[in-house]
Formats: sequence, structure tokens, C-alpha cells
Amino acid sequence: MTLSLKDQRVIITGAAQGLGAAIARRFAEQGARLVLLDYNAEGLAETVKTCGSGATALQVDLSDRAQTDGAIAKALAELGHVDTLVHNAAILDRRLFADEDFASFFKTVNVGLQAGFQLSHAVWPGMVAAGGGAIIYVSSRSGIIGFEEEAAYCASKHALEGLAKSLALEGAAHGITANTVTPGMYMRTPMSNRNYNDELKAKWVDPIMLTSAFVAIAEKSPPVVSGDRIDAWALSQPIDTAKNA
Ligand SMILES: NC(=O)c1ccc[n+]([C@@H]2O[C@H](COP(=O)([O-])OP(=O)(O)OC[C@H]3O[C@@H](n4cnc5c(N)ncnc54)[C@H](O)[C@@H]3O)[C@@H](O)[C@H]2O)c1
Repeated sequence: MTLSLKDQRVIITGAAQGLGAAIARRFAEQGARLVLLDYNAEGLAETVKTCGSGATALQVDLSDRAQTDGAIAKALAELGHVDTLVHNAAILDRRLFADEDFASFFKTVNVGLQAGFQLSHAVWPGMVAAGGGAIIYVSSRSGIIGFEEEAAYCASKHALEGLAKSLALEGAAHGITANTVTPGMYMRTPMSNRNYNDELKAKWVDPIMLTSAFVAIAEKSPPVVSGDRIDAWALSQPIDTAKNA
């Protein structure tokens, strides 16, 4: 089922800043009705201002199972059902594995994987009933290869890659696509600001430049893919070039 974003109801996590805020702004421009989840209330309020009247902010710590369930219940009450889920929130708290502790490891894993499961499981029945939907997990190169000082982040992103592949198989009969998206380009975000060296900062781009890929996946523009790992930069560039030609 193809549905213009203008008629879609969408949940976006991690929308207070960075890539999530850019996706929210872009989806709002396309007319989507949005519920935005993040623990940073101030940042969320800023994003909502850029989104206009079609966005609602819910402050929630997505590492906390009960808080996340509460936020999901409010989001579903607001939206009715969800056409597209963009699970973008993540924590990258770099440390050696020897310095990792249970709490910090599972905070990262819970924001990435546990919240990803909770959100997907909650929106699934509505997508089945509606005859389709799109589940998008923001991943990373850390979803397919390991990096030093990123054990929790890599574990979380690898798990999301696997979850998406399984959901893609089960969703096929219901018109539900499930994909991961990797940025594919250095982005100017607070996470990058903390982790990039000067060489990478010289190349970074505004994350809005990656958002055409998210629009295409949410709207199921042909060729429709599921169970795939999509490079946001590589998909967005030709779309934007064609649009501006
Ligand atoms: N920045 C990069 O270079 C890069 C590279 C590859 C992948 N990614 C992925 O892109 C996505 C966006 O990254 P970004 O650079 O915009 O990151 P960011 O840190 O700037 O933004 C992440 C957002 O997630 C929110 N968040 C974190 N923990 C939360 C929690 N417990 N509860 C609720 N919200 C929480 C933050 O408040 C923030 O708004 C992430 O999934 C990240 O892993 C980023």
C-alpha cells in the first residue's frame, strides 16, 4: 500500500536534535501528522516549532520500559494508528569494554533495541489492520561491523539489523516493510560533534540532506524494498538532483 506522507501518521524517536529533528521537519513539510519522542524536552519543543501544528511532543526516557509503554499509549491515543515508525534515537557513549558496566551497556541497548521492539510491537496490529506500514530503524556502519569502544552501540545496532530482517519477512503478507537506514554521509549533529575529528567535521552535511531517503521509504516509492539496509545519502542524492533539475 502506497500512501503519501500528507495522509500519514508517524512516530519519530530521537527527534529533539540531529537527524531525528531533520526527519521530523521534512515529514511535517510533507504534511504528515507526527508524534515525536525524546527525553530532551527543550529540544523537542524547538523541533515542534519548526514542524508547525502537525506535531506533538512526548518527553520519555526510551531506555525505561514502563515510560516507553506509557509514551506509546499516548502516541496511539493521539494518532489512532501509525503508518510509519522511524526509530532513530540512540546513545553512543564511547568507552573500552573493560570500563563498560551493566547499567550503561543496557541503557544503550534498551534505547536502541528494547524501545525498537516495544514501538514496533505496538504499531504492528494497526499496520496489519490498515493493510500496510513502514518500519524504519536508523542504523550505522556499527550495525554491520565492530568498532573499538562501541560494544554497546554495536550490539544495539546489530540487533536492530536482525530485528528488521525478521519483521520484513513477517510483514510481507501484510504490506509492512521493515528496513534499516544508515546515514552514508558524515552528518552535522550533536552526536557527531562529540565524536568526529576535524577531518570528518570538514566533510559533514546538514542532516536535512539525508531526509529524501526517509520520505521515499515511508511513501514506498518504487522500487519498494523490505529487509534491506538503505544508504540515506546514496538514495537522497539522485532524488534531490532530479527534483532540482
Ligand atoms: N552522527 C553520526 O555520525 C551517525 C552515524 C551513523 C549512525 N547514526 C545514527 O543516526 C541516528 C541519529 O544520530 P544523531 O547524530 O542525530 O544523534 P544525536 O545524539 O544528535 O541525537 C539522538 C537523539 O536521541 C535522543 N535520545 C538518546 N537517548 C534517549 C533516551 N534514553 N530516551 C529518549 N531519547 C533519547 C537524544 O536526546 C537525541 O535527541 C542515531 O540512531 C545514530 O546512531 C549517527
